[in-house]
Amino acid sequence: MIFTIFGATGDLTTKKLMPALYKLHEDDQMPTHFLVNLIGRQIYEEEAFIEHIRAQIEGNYPNWDEFKTHLRYIQMDFTDPDAYVAFAEHMMSVAGYESQERIYYLATAPRFFPMIASALVGNGLVVKGNMRDKIIFEKPFGENLETAKSYNQLLLGLIEESQIYRIDHYLGKEMLQNVLMVRFANKIFESIWDSENIEHITIYAFEKETVKQRGGYYDRSGALRDMVQNHLFQTLALVAMDSPNGLNDRLIKDEKVKVLEKLEFSSPMIFGQYKGYLSEKGIPSDSKTETFVGLKMFVNSRRWSRTPFYLVTGKKMKDKRAAVVITFKESNCFFESGQPAKNTLTIEIAPREGLALTFNGKAPGLQSYVMPMKMDYCHLCNVVGNTPEAYEKLILDVIHDDASLFTRWDEIESSWKIIDQLEQLKTYEPLYQYEDESEMLAKLKSEWGDFLTYL
Ligand code: BG6
Repeated sequence: MIFTIFGATGDLTTKKLMPALYKLHEDDQMPTHFLVNLIGRQIYEEEAFIEHIRAQIEGNYPNWDEFKTHLRYIQMDFTDPDAYVAFAEHMMSVAGYESQERIYYLATAPRFFPMIASALVGNGLVVKGNMRDKIIFEKPFGENLETAKSYNQLLLGLIEESQIYRIDHYLGKEMLQNVLMVRFANKIFESIWDSENIEHITIYAFEKETVKQRGGYYDRSGALRDMVQNHLFQTLALVAMDSPNGLNDRLIKDEKVKVLEKLEFSSPMIFGQYKGYLSEKGIPSDSKTETFVGLKMFVNSRRWSRTPFYLVTGKKMKDKRAAVVITFKESNCFFESGQPAKNTLTIEIAPREGLALTFNGKAPGLQSYVMPMKMDYCHLCNVVGNTPEAYEKLILDVIHDDASLFTRWDEIESSWKIIDQLEQLKTYEPLYQYEDESEMLAKLKSEWGDFLTYL
């Protein structure tokens, strides 16, 4: 297999892709013969470049010396169409090129997708219909509906849909894969999974990190395009979709699309930018890009029309944490000795992976007091070994031609439709400057009330 990364000097490669490839190799999941081409613009000796990459990867890699024998540095400017001639010669000179799987990972800003894909096809590196040639497109796929549509049309003229992998790494996360199992493999949840019984649902993804070196990309995206259009909407779709007629990939995606098409938002939306953002590398001094967003959304369907979905994401928060919290309605049953608390089901995505269910019972003792209780399941603690990092799982799926955890075009299209509207309305909303998360959480609380207990 030849695995080529465009954008090899970027954050994604060092933070996620290299650790995932290393781990797959260590777990004997990579083909016996594989090469990883790292494409970068700067002039480096191969050895020096690989050392440079290693220095940026966090964690322990005891077998790095063996792993690095599979790495190659390819110096080229991928925006120069002529550079692909030499790259093609290089690729085709690899022993057994014809019989190898060839996977190209476009870890670049989306505006480069059309030109890289066209150049790969134009130089015979990706051949339409040849299932050995596959391209993975990092999210976001496009900058808005219009560009996403044009990229998609262009790609479908160049290659088959089955050669296209539009990645959203949240779908590879253990607990996101768990959502459908929890919902559909348990009698206790599905029958109460609606507005009749669920008061509201909160989906949040907070990060401690700032944009760091990614200013050039991030400032053109902002939290709406970077996190909401993909990760949060995909999570919402899994939580809210109706039961598919069968648990196959196509039917599941059909149901997710129905949810995304019925998404509506309710004003106000809350936007913030952390103090210090304007001094980050690559950020214009007058940037209005949001690094925090809070949205109240509804799914306009029979099942959900009265349940708000709160979506919240931000950078430079107190810590990294992500979860889905489903808050059920109050029980009608009142005890003299206290009112039962609302039941919640929390699907913890990060840092811990797990599930927690709160319910009410009798406090121990002679008196009869209602007391909230919690059932807590830690996924990582009970599973032997580590759960696979999302990128490991997804890269392995590409190797095995399995696109079920990748996004289909119509999911992306319906997500962009709503994000485009939000982007327009954003210009009328204030952009709060925040020092830390408490200021933004206070704003959300003043708009939406006490659901914040769970954040
Ligand atoms: C990426 C975003 O898709 O997801 C980043 O571009 C964000 O801005 C990251 O930091 C969060 O993913 P994870 O898996 O680290 O929670």
